[in-house]
Amino acid sequence: MRLFKIKKSKIDKNGLYANCDIKKGTKIIQYKGKIISVKKSAEDPKFDNGKAIYLFNINKRFDLDGDFKFNTARLINHSCNPNCEVLGKGLKIWVYAIKNIKKGDELSYDYGFSFDEEFRNYPCRCGAKNCAKFIIREGSRWRIKKSKLYKSHK
Ligand SMILES: C[S@@+](CC[C@H](N)C(=O)[O-])C[C@H]1O[C@@H](n2cnc3c(N)ncnc32)[C@H](O)[C@@H]1O
Ligand SMILES: [Zn+2]
Repeated sequence: MRLFKIKKSKIDKNGLYANCDIKKGTKIIQYKGKIISVKKSAEDPKFDNGKAIYLFNINKRFDLDGDFKFNTARLINHSCNPNCEVLGKGLKIWVYAIKNIKKGDELSYDYGFSFDEEFRNYPCRCGAKNCAKFIIREGSRWRIKKSKLYKSHK
């Protein structure tokens, strides 16, 4: 049985949803893409904000560009309380369950965005109780908690 299906998401446009109960540790879906040289990704304006969610580094010379229709995993939205993580090396990048996931739950992972002057451009609509209001990796969220902007979003 397929572990996931595409559905309209409350977070953003479409998302991936569990099609059955999924146990913690399960390899859910491969993150697929095309190899692109680091030189090219550095020059391409498409990747010009350091928050290129579709780009994974493979090694010093190559990145994996996941911005393709065939990469269904690209539809997974960010959550501040995610139930998945993306792990892997080289071309073997997979989305894993980091919790037991119930049928019908939306799959999500932490996009890992860093805290910088652009954080305001990425408001988060994940709806989790601990939502940081902006898409920022877990380890950096404390940095925005004191900012005025964060308080006005509360
Ligand atoms: C990789 S796409 C995810 C799939 C997207 N929902 C779609 O249907 O194409 C990433 C984009 O989804 C949106 N997104 C993902 N998670 C979000 C969140 N927690 N809050 C707000 N927007 C989110 C942002 O616009 C982000 O640039
Ligand atoms: Zn959030």
